[in-house]
Amino acid sequence: MDRIPRITGLIAGFSLLLNALSVAAQDLPADLIRGKALYRNHCATCHGQTGRGDGPAAASLRVAPADFHRFRSFLKSDEELLRIIEHGIVFSPMHAWSDNLTEGQMTDILAYIRLLSLESN
Ligand code: HEC
Repeated sequence: MDRIPRITGLIAGFSLLLNALSVAAQDLPADLIRGKALYRNHCATCHGQTGRGDGPAAASLRVAPADFHRFRSFLKSDEELLRIIEHGIVFSPMHAWSDNLTEGQMTDILAYIRLLSLESN
């Protein structure tokens, strides 16, 4: 007879657990928090807050900033993208960052770019 309350208790416990998990998923891991701050400071003027290549400086550039949501960027390996961030692209507003950012900072930014590219906004 006391099986039903036990099952309801189990369900309540389970939904509490699910809630806890989804809250945890909203908190970004440390590298992404660092990457986000760096991205907003250094990259968003051109690449835009959501990585669509539509930052405030984009309109005045001859070469459009990369839209990280595009498949072309998505398909590039981490190494390829890191190389571009480190060394820049010749004759492009995308300059080298290796003088201003450490290896770890660039890796954190890359992690954040990958996260942005998966978001649907
Ligand atoms: C002054 C504007 C500007 C700023 C600031 C800027 N970028 Fe760029 N970025 C560009 C442009 C323009 C391109 C496209 C270059 C091309 O296609 O020749 C680009 C391309 C890239 C690419 C290559 C993407 C691909 O799919 O090939 C990466 C990665 C990138 N930027 C990362 C960054 C990061 C990280 C920062 C900040 C640390 C940053 N950019 C800051 C303008 C900028």
